[in-house]
Amino acid sequence: MDTNDTLVGFGAGKVILLGEHSVVYGYPALAGPLSRGVTARGEPSNKCQLVIPDALMPEQRKVLKAAFARATAACGEPGVKVSFETDLPLSMGLGSSGALSVACTRVLLQAAGRKTTASEVAAVAWEMEQEFHGTPSGVDHTTSAMEQLILYRRKPGAEQGRAKVVESPRPLKLVVVMAGARSPTKQTVGALRERQKRWSERYQRIFREIGLLASEGAEAVEEGDLEALGDVMNVNHGLLAALGLSSPGLDDMVHRLRNMGALGAKLTGAGGDGGAVIGLFNDTEPVVHELTRQGIRCFDSQLAGPRAEGARGAA
Ligand code: MEV
Repeated sequence: MDTNDTLVGFGAGKVILLGEHSVVYGYPALAGPLSRGVTARGEPSNKCQLVIPDALMPEQRKVLKAAFARATAACGEPGVKVSFETDLPLSMGLGSSGALSVACTRVLLQAAGRKTTASEVAAVAWEMEQEFHGTPSGVDHTTSAMEQLILYRRKPGAEQGRAKVVESPRPLKLVVVMAGARSPTKQTVGALRERQKRWSERYQRIFREIGLLASEGAEAVEEGDLEALGDVMNVNHGLLAALGLSSPGLDDMVHRLRNMGALGAKLTGAGGDGGAVIGLFNDTEPVVHELTRQGIRCFDSQLAGPRAEGARGAA
């Protein structure tokens, strides 16, 4: 790497439209990229290192160091000092760790003189994601690396997941609302794993149904049938609540968005005690305006379809 070079890598945050959690058990999920995310920068250095923000707690620093070490090993320890910044709300189910993994990976691969195709990036970012999450499905970093709406599935025991790009003839306009406290994905996924071990058949039935919803939702997107997509989102939220993954705050926001005209609304990401809620709207602007006026953190994002706009709002 030349001493004048600054390398830049962006990792998009993600929204899961359908299928979170059941995707961990081998069923499909429909997910798309946000225009918000993590930007990593790399400067020449005599060793491979990551600048860790002071604000991080000791446990977070440890995990971040370990994750970065896995990625640097996969890239042959190039001489680069990596720093990063984010405009993505953290630990809110919007894929911040996947975005960080992809952003750092893009810089490391450039520093190593390697290709930065989506599959190269996804392979290295996967190393980091496993350190962050323990048993991730891989949907977060794959969506971030591909930057497209995808139907993602990793069958049980498979090393890699598979992603099919889902084309949307119509814009998919979402309002993303921060509804409550931060909620660590690892804990929520772990607690659900304990329940499903104990009552496996009952939980598997629900996972299977959610997987079907994700496939039906992908078809609805391809047909441009946003009402059908909204209905699938509503049913998916009900099943996530049945799995114990919602909270009064998340449920309340889902109902508020529906009352504001959402075609469909649900929690997105891990859920639990807090996290984010998404609503699908024909027009997001008045909704963001009204929620922001009420002091609620939100932004809008167009996930797919013609003339994708950037995210706006005060998150
Ligand atoms: C987290 O963004 C999505 C989960 O399904 C976990 C995963 O897929 O690894 C809850």
